[in-house]
Amino acid sequence: MTRPIPIFLDGDPGHDDAIAWMLAQASPLLDIRGVSSVCGNQTIEKTTWNARRVMTLLGIRAPLAQGRKGPLVAEPMPAPGIHGESGLDGPALPEPAVEPVDLPACELMARVLAESPEPVTLVPTGPLTNVAALLLAHPELKSRIAGISLMGGGVTQGNWTPAAEFNILVDPEAADLVFRSGVPITMAGLDVTEQALVFPEDFARIRALGNPVAGVVADWLEFFYGFHRNIGYAGAPVHDAVAVAALIAPELFRMEEMYVAVETAGEYCRGATIGDRYHLTDHAPNARVILGLDRAGFVQLLVDAAASYGEGRT
Ligand code: RIB
Ligand code: CA
Repeated sequence: MTRPIPIFLDGDPGHDDAIAWMLAQASPLLDIRGVSSVCGNQTIEKTTWNARRVMTLLGIRAPLAQGRKGPLVAEPMPAPGIHGESGLDGPALPEPAVEPVDLPACELMARVLAESPEPVTLVPTGPLTNVAALLLAHPELKSRIAGISLMGGGVTQGNWTPAAEFNILVDPEAADLVFRSGVPITMAGLDVTEQALVFPEDFARIRALGNPVAGVVADWLEFFYGFHRNIGYAGAPVHDAVAVAALIAPELFRMEEMYVAVETAGEYCRGATIGDRYHLTDHAPNARVILGLDRAGFVQLLVDAAASYGEGRT
């Protein structure tokens, strides 16, 4: 069997971040070497608390570090309308049994990269603040990053402004730095994640698995769907799980290489990710942009992952 891919999870859990982490922890193809919280859908205090509770629920034993107080330049932009006031409203979660290490997120990332015999893949599912901080503080470690599989942006649409997706809009300066870094990027943006819909009948399949983690995942999906149903979605778009699924089962996704620039200025377009789909510029591609997926296959991955928590694992 091939060796699992070493990964570092960085997110602002968040219902779909939590489901992404559930998928990562369940997969024998991935090895979680570290976790960090980022200020995104809620304050850093709340996302760190949620990261601790989610890691406890899932049995993730890698070290956790708290991220920066806020974006590199901009002010924080919490989104209680999507994930609730706690940042992860919905089912009761265990009291955290995980303590953050006494290091900033970017320093834990640096330690994991430096100590790993193989390059490590970063999986950010929130604003790119911590990853940018790592690149600024430790440019010498760039070659230790195998790639960045991120949820953010969209070359065809925004969701927080007409032009910008939430994670990129919260910290466009960080995203700009990351996309210019030369590190290979796989971008799970809205182009694909708006198609990564989990329908109510899929929630029922997950709930029917009958194990405690599956029950919580089904509750998270119900909660997350509540907001989306009200604005016309047929299911819950589990954005962040696509960034993990693309590592586990790339065959489920259609990707195109292109140059992606991040707009940091502009009255209407701050935070937009501009994809050069038709190679109109001189820039070499800097990202593999995911544009489509096998939805049923994606949902099956989530179901199988949730089922694995009933197989006597701790
Ligand atoms: O735009 C989708 C992103 O914002 C996801 O990372 C999700 O967690 C939300 O907060
Ligand atoms: Ca997120």
